Amino acid sequence: MRKPGKPLNRIESIREFLLPPREKIIGILKLLNLNEKKIKHSIAVADLSLKIADEIKRVDGIEADRKIVEAGALLHDVGLAMTFDDLSPEHSVIGADIIRKVGLPERVAKCAEAHEMAGGLSRKVAEELKFPVYPLKDDYSPSTLEEEIVTAADLFQYLLIEAPEEFGYKKYDPWEDPEGCKEALFSYCRDVYKKKLNKELTMNEAAPMLEKGYEICREFVKYVKPNLVE
Ligand SMILES: [Fe+2]
Ligand SMILES: [Fe+2]
Repeated sequence: MRKPGKPLNRIESIREFLLPPREKIIGILKLLNLNEKKIKHSIAVADLSLKIADEIKRVDGIEADRKIVEAGALLHDVGLAMTFDDLSPEHSVIGADIIRKVGLPERVAKCAEAHEMAGGLSRKVAEELKFPVYPLKDDYSPSTLEEEIVTAADLFQYLLIEAPEEFGYKKYDPWEDPEGCKEALFSYCRDVYKKKLNKELTMNEAAPMLEKGYEICREFVKYVKPNLVE
């Protein structure tokens, strides 16, 4: 597990001090015309992220920044307002770009930037999928506890509830079979490669993209009780 992050400098501290409350952030999502279903998903991820943060504090005494976790979770999928497509891994970097451009804190932008492919996005994948935001980074995986919490909450919310219901992916039980997340994540990566590049992705090619999600599932599942996910 990563350490909690801190504001990078004084300007960032002021940006964090001015961070809007939940209702206004949801208002930003509405202003950008993010669809109703995704706004609902973002609120569910924010609620779960805060529950995970509270559980980490209770169990291990490690305190994540709740304001950054909540704003990062609410805005993690804001890039989907520009891509209009669920199968668009670039929505993470596009979302981070929007968050920076509207003057919200860098730590919030990083939560959006790090969440895609359960933290397993790399420069190689970004190049292959022709991401439209430059310069590309070598590594998009979460670098702070707040980024990890948002990534984990998105992963559990998606794999446990939305992926089986909406996309017919295999139902995943992280408590009995943590490694099962690789199969569910593979279904998503396979569909992305098919749609974007008309390429049949193999399990071997996808393996590096699935490892980070598996690591996050393994590490964070102990903070997620089955009744926390709705
Ligand atoms: Fe996303
Ligand atoms: Fe999401």
